[in-house]
Amino acid sequence: MTVLIQGGTVVNADRSQQADVLCHDGLIVAVGESLEAPKGATIIDAGGQYVMPGGIDPHTHMQLPFMGTVASEDFETGTAAGLAGGTTMIIDFVIPGPQQDIMEAWHQWREWAEKSVSDYTFHVAITWWDDSVHKAMGTLVNEHGVNSFKHFMAYKGAIMADDEILVNSFSRAIELGAIVTVHAENGELVFRLQQELFDKGITGPEAHPLSRPPQCEGEAANRAIRIAEVLNVPLYIVHNSCRQSLEAITRARNEGQRVFGEVLAGHLLIDDSVYRHEDFEVAAAHVMSPPFRSAEHQAALWRGLQSGNLQTTATDHCCFCADQKAMGKDDFRKIPNGTGGVENRMEVLWHHGVSTGRLTMNEFVAVTSTNAAQIFNVYPRKGSISVGADADIVVWDPEATKTISAKTHFQKVDYNIFEGMTVKGCASYTLSQGKVVFADGKLDVERGAGRYVHRPPFASYYAALQIQAQRNEPTAVKR
Ligand code: URP
Ligand code: ZN
Ligand code: ZN
Repeated sequence: MTVLIQGGTVVNADRSQQADVLCHDGLIVAVGESLEAPKGATIIDAGGQYVMPGGIDPHTHMQLPFMGTVASEDFETGTAAGLAGGTTMIIDFVIPGPQQDIMEAWHQWREWAEKSVSDYTFHVAITWWDDSVHKAMGTLVNEHGVNSFKHFMAYKGAIMADDEILVNSFSRAIELGAIVTVHAENGELVFRLQQELFDKGITGPEAHPLSRPPQCEGEAANRAIRIAEVLNVPLYIVHNSCRQSLEAITRARNEGQRVFGEVLAGHLLIDDSVYRHEDFEVAAAHVMSPPFRSAEHQAALWRGLQSGNLQTTATDHCCFCADQKAMGKDDFRKIPNGTGGVENRMEVLWHHGVSTGRLTMNEFVAVTSTNAAQIFNVYPRKGSISVGADADIVVWDPEATKTISAKTHFQKVDYNIFEGMTVKGCASYTLSQGKVVFADGKLDVERGAGRYVHRPPFASYYAALQIQAQRNEPTAVKR
């Protein structure tokens, strides 16, 4: 299939230019002024619009088995919803259960994801430790294109990784040239606070944020950073929700440590008053971890994004419908944690980021696509409008408006955390692998068309780290 996108402004993370973009057989084959349309090409008129790399959501959980249920959005519906909002690749997570064979979990998730309609790739969670896990990490990096491992510092009694697991896994990751990522919350403290609140009779969703204060997140972020510093491994902290974790990241980066931070669209835009909503369904629909925070934290997160101390935006798309959330009607600890947003991330960030002047268009591209591609080593195949890149493209109409609602969204969940928000600036066309998959508000996707994307390890950077480590090699005192 050949597609010529004509008359738009190409916006990359590093620059903007007036240019046409020619796509053929899934790739971008030319970027330049007044390109000629090959015979039979589909022409897209992008006059007055922006032509940007398709979004990468580096944090989703499609059909995740979690807290006694399974997330309602599967890989087919979830990747389709992403395309409707201009997101052309997701990075999901393989999360083995306690003691579950890692490779068995890997194959299970790969099978589930085969129905994806856009490209996807996987972080793999390390939830327990023994020699087989050590070996599997090598197999995943060397044979399956995995270069990032995830650690949940919360969810005690389920998938929580304690310090021993962190140290073992971080050490193995550096040997393999992989990056480590963490969900930073002190799981022991959360467990204690949950119990105390419940015993006091505070059993509703209002207890959720009280049981997970920012200090729990700041402590865990700082702990993960210091462990990574000692072991000399690059670290990526997912879903930073508060000033405390941002400060830990900023401090480490100022000291020269390679630490990256992600922020969710929801944490930038929704505050913690939602947990005090009188309707249980509404309050429970917002239960996710870490929780939404007060305006003070939201302002700090925007500053983190603007200063470059936070590099990526994600959604942590993990949907549960009202009947699933009702599992925690009498006990907030049983409300499945998770909210959606893969469809809306780009439009809410454009509206509240670019239109308000907080972000330039180029910064928008960086934080919605390019930085994730670079951090997780798929750049410039993804995250770039350039010759040879995958033709994963969003044509963005800055004048289009829409009001977000669960009644009209494509996401397979009965609630939208951005319900009622009117945004100006939306995807008018989305291309995945050079095919138009979203136009005129309609999806045209094919089950299974999405490909698993291999991500190589970080060979050259790690070689440099080893040289540095050899220079600093301690020596015994001769006596
Ligand atoms: O509440 C959340 N975030 N659910 C998904 C699992 C996780 O912690 O990322
Ligand atoms: Zn998490
Ligand atoms: Zn998550």
